[in-house]
Amino acid sequence: MPNQTSVKDYIRTIVDFPHEGILFRDVTTLFADPRGFRMAIDQMLHPYAGMRIDKVVGLEARGFILGGAIAHQLSVGFVPVRKKGKLPGTTISEDYTLEYGEAVVELHDDAIAAGEKVLVVDDLLATGGTAAAGIKLVERLGGEIVGCAFVIDLPDLGGRKKLEALGMDVHCLCAFEGL
Ligand code: PRP
Ligand code: MG
Repeated sequence: MPNQTSVKDYIRTIVDFPHEGILFRDVTTLFADPRGFRMAIDQMLHPYAGMRIDKVVGLEARGFILGGAIAHQLSVGFVPVRKKGKLPGTTISEDYTLEYGEAVVELHDDAIAAGEKVLVVDDLLATGGTAAAGIKLVERLGGEIVGCAFVIDLPDLGGRKKLEALGMDVHCLCAFEGL
């Protein structure tokens, strides 16, 4: 793609996916572009330069792609927060609310040691339900969250306010107004 200057320019919008009336913000086009992907990783890390980070926690599923690259860049470990039933070891779990119904995310109970500094990452902040559940899991193990970094904020859905009310530092690379 020529003349791309910001992360937002690499994000594709798919109309009516997964339901009619939804504008789906597709980061696969960002991830597929070498310049865009590196720009996103570098910008997600920028506010945390010089800070101690012991673990990167990625939220399923696109948070794994971002979190793996960020952990590699920092030379620290990566830890997945997964949807129910996917992690093989002993887990702790948190429920959260979706547009329709409830979901559950899990974390291995030995994945983070008390006092470790954690950066939480995902592709998109909407209602903040997924991230809030991930944050609770990390904090239950005694992890101290340095920040929560996302590519996209949907400010109309209130996720930033929800996470800030939990005391989180929230960092998003771009925002899409409206639903
Ligand atoms: C999307 C997105 C975030 C979450 C944000 O994931 O990738 O993880 O929703 O929404 P929220 O702020 O309202 O919780 P989704 O649940 O669609 O699953 P996936 O990443 O596994 O595709
Ligand atoms: Mg997700």
